[in-house]
Amino acid sequence: MAKTQEYPMSIEDSSSLLAKHLTKEIFEKLRDKRTVNDYTLAQAINSGVQNPDSGTGVYAGDEQSYEMFAPLFDPIIYEYHGHSKEDKHQSDLNPANLKAPNPDKEGKYILSTRIRVARNIQGLPLGPAIDKAKRENIEQDISNILCRSRGELAGTYYSLSNMSEADRLSLITDHFLFKAGDRFLQAAGLNQDWPSGRGIFHNTDKTFLVWINEEDQLRIISMQNGGDIQEVFTRLASAIDMLSSQVKFAYSDHLGYITSCPTNLGTAMRASVHIRLPNLSDNTQELEAIAKIYHLQIRGIHGEHSSSEDGVYDISNKRRLGITEVQCVQDMHDGVVALIKREQELAR
Ligand code: ARG
Repeated sequence: MAKTQEYPMSIEDSSSLLAKHLTKEIFEKLRDKRTVNDYTLAQAINSGVQNPDSGTGVYAGDEQSYEMFAPLFDPIIYEYHGHSKEDKHQSDLNPANLKAPNPDKEGKYILSTRIRVARNIQGLPLGPAIDKAKRENIEQDISNILCRSRGELAGTYYSLSNMSEADRLSLITDHFLFKAGDRFLQAAGLNQDWPSGRGIFHNTDKTFLVWINEEDQLRIISMQNGGDIQEVFTRLASAIDMLSSQVKFAYSDHLGYITSCPTNLGTAMRASVHIRLPNLSDNTQELEAIAKIYHLQIRGIHGEHSSSEDGVYDISNKRRLGITEVQCVQDMHDGVVALIKREQELAR
């Protein structure tokens, strides 16, 4: 792990939130601090220092990082989420409060829908600061709980450390396997002891997945083909219920669910569709204008730092903190309705 004894001049040309908010004064004030888990400023900023093309560039090692390094994290959180120090977070996972009928009943635009939340266990260090034994304990406990689930959620756990070649290939074909060696996670310390303690659970239908010890300790995922957002959210809510009745997750009234990356705080939710928008893809300013109104983030379909192929985009909610889970999904749903409407107008 890089030691940052001096101000990292290399971020000066970066447009990340880290580069914007890490002033020399803040650096001096925070550089010698350590959290209870021995997490330092050097660790918190290493991903953004090593990767100047970061959008954000910082990671927390534990809940205390958000307090101890607040002079850096607070303005980043404010700029990303519009959530200030006094603001409170509230959760609402009740599917009855969501109005998200399928925006594409004929199946012409939306290829698939996926909603995930991140969770970390209360009282444990987050991924960037955890050790091998604790990480393996989490894998044990969570995979045991998952393997006891019944009904629609029942399925199988695949540990990265002892996975058969056949299972590995089939998980890759389904795009379920998380990628090793992501340089942002690597520099954040999130790939330590790879692949130990990591794995993937999925149900028989492949509509419910849990990633264990990737960027967060749990990524709980509900997904299916097509645009039935309501159904995807309902399944996710029941999976979260099942897990939270057996594990206590880290949560604060101000930051909501605690995650290693500050962009995921709050609901820790990313609700997305893969959607084909060939006409809008020739009018990217329009696409971006609509995205802005509905607080959407646009990505390519090959993951976070990819670009669009054949006019197919990954469209998701951008806001996650200071609004409820229902509102996150509502943002995404309403934005997708608007995108489809404009796509149809352009096609004429
Ligand atoms: N650290 C990366 C960056 O700043 C990712 C930030 C948001 N994404 C995430 N998976 N946490 O670009």
